[in-house]
Amino acid sequence: MLNGKKIVVGVTGGIAIYKVVDLVSKLRKQGAEVRVVMTEHAAKFVSPLLFAEISGHKCAVSMWDGRDEFTVEHIALANWGDLFLVAPATANILAKMACGLADDLLSTVLLAAPCPIIVCPAMNTGMYENAATQENLNVLRRRGISVMEPASGELACGTSGAGRLPEVTEIIAYLERFLAKREGDMRGLKVLVTAAGTREPIDPVRFVGNRSSGKMGYSVARQALLRGADVTLVTGPSALTPPPYAKVIPVETTKQMLDACLKEYPDVDIVIKAAAVADFKPRSVADQKIKKINPEEGMTIAMDQNPDILKTLGGMKKQQFLVGFAAETQNLLENAANKVKKKNLDMIVANDVSLKGAGFNTDTNIVKFLYPDGTVEALELLSKDMVASILLDRVMEKRKK
Ligand code: CTP
Repeated sequence: MLNGKKIVVGVTGGIAIYKVVDLVSKLRKQGAEVRVVMTEHAAKFVSPLLFAEISGHKCAVSMWDGRDEFTVEHIALANWGDLFLVAPATANILAKMACGLADDLLSTVLLAAPCPIIVCPAMNTGMYENAATQENLNVLRRRGISVMEPASGELACGTSGAGRLPEVTEIIAYLERFLAKREGDMRGLKVLVTAAGTREPIDPVRFVGNRSSGKMGYSVARQALLRGADVTLVTGPSALTPPPYAKVIPVETTKQMLDACLKEYPDVDIVIKAAAVADFKPRSVADQKIKKINPEEGMTIAMDQNPDILKTLGGMKKQQFLVGFAAETQNLLENAANKVKKKNLDMIVANDVSLKGAGFNTDTNIVKFLYPDGTVEALELLSKDMVASILLDRVMEKRKK
C-alpha cells in the first residue's frame, strides 16, 4: 500500500520527534517517497539535516529559506503529496489547523494541501485532555482529517496517561489501513476468517487439540485487512499476535467457534475457514483433574462427533463466498473435491500436511485450489502470506463471475 506513495511528513516540536526519524526511514524502506516539513520549534530538537539525509530530500522549515521548487512554493509542496502526516502533532499545530492559521511553513502547507491528512497528537496528558485540544480535534475530525489516537503510558514530563506518540510500527499500520480503506480492492467487503485449532477439554487442565498454529488463517486475515476488507477473526488459542484492525473473537471449543461463526455469518460476504477444527470431543468432561491411572487397565476416553461448522454454513449459504481448507495426508484431490460438494463450497484450499514445507506450524505452504466445476490450480512452495494473497485474488475473480 505504501509503495510509490508520496507522503509529506509534518514534524512539530515534541519530544517524540525521535520516533519520526525512524518512521521516515521505514516509510522509505516500504517504497514511499517522503518530504519533511518541520516547524522552527521542531528544528530545535532535531536538525533538519538529519531529516534531509533520512528522507533523501531537502527538509523545509521556513517560508524564507533559499528558493527552490518546494520551500518558497508552498503550494507545490502541498500539491505534491498523496498523503499528509503530521507527527508528532503538538497542541499548538492542532489549534492552528482548527483555526485555519497559516503563520509558518508547515501550517501554510497544511492549509493548502488538497490530499488526505492524518494527525498523530502527542503531548502532555493535561494538554491532550484539555477541552480546547479535544474541541480542536473534533473540529478536525468533522472536516475529514483522520486523528490517530495517542497511546497511553509514561510521558517525557514524568507523568503517565494518554498523549504518547504510538510506536512506529503502529503508525505504519495505521497508514496502511487508512490507504487500504480508501483504495484497497476489498474495501467495503466483510470477511470472516477462522484460524488455529479448537480444543476440547478432558478435565480442568487437559484437552484434545491439534498442531495448528494459526499462521495460515492469520495471514489471510492480515492480507484481507491490507486490501481494505473488514475482517472478523474467530481464532482458537494461538501464540500469534492478531493483525491490527481485525475484530478478534477468541474461542476455545468447536461449539464456541460454531456459535461465533453463526452470529457473524448473516452479514458477511466472504468466509475463509482456515481453522483446524477438533472433530471429536470427550463425551464427558471430568470436574476434577484426573489422577494417575492403573497402567494395566489403561484409560479409554469416549469421544463424540463435533458439529461440522463449514457444512452448517454451506447449508445456509446466501450471498457468502465460502472457502474451506482441506488438510489431508492421502488422496488429496479426491478428498478435497468431495469436501467441496459435501460442504457446498465455492473453493477449497487443499494441502497435503505430510509434505515438507506444508501444513501445520510452518511459515510456508504447498496448496492446490479446487473449484466446484472441477478445475484445479496448483501453487508451488510459497510463504503463507503469499498463499493468502493469491487466495484472495482468486476469491475476488470468482466472486465477479
Ligand atoms: N471444518 C469445520 N468443522 C469441522 C471440521 C472441519 O468447519 N468439524 C472445516 C475446516 O475448517 C476446513 C474444512 O472443514 O475448512 C475441512 O477440514 P478437514 O479437517 O480437512 O476435514 P473434515 O471435514 O474434518 O474431514 P476429515 O477430517 O474426515 O478429513
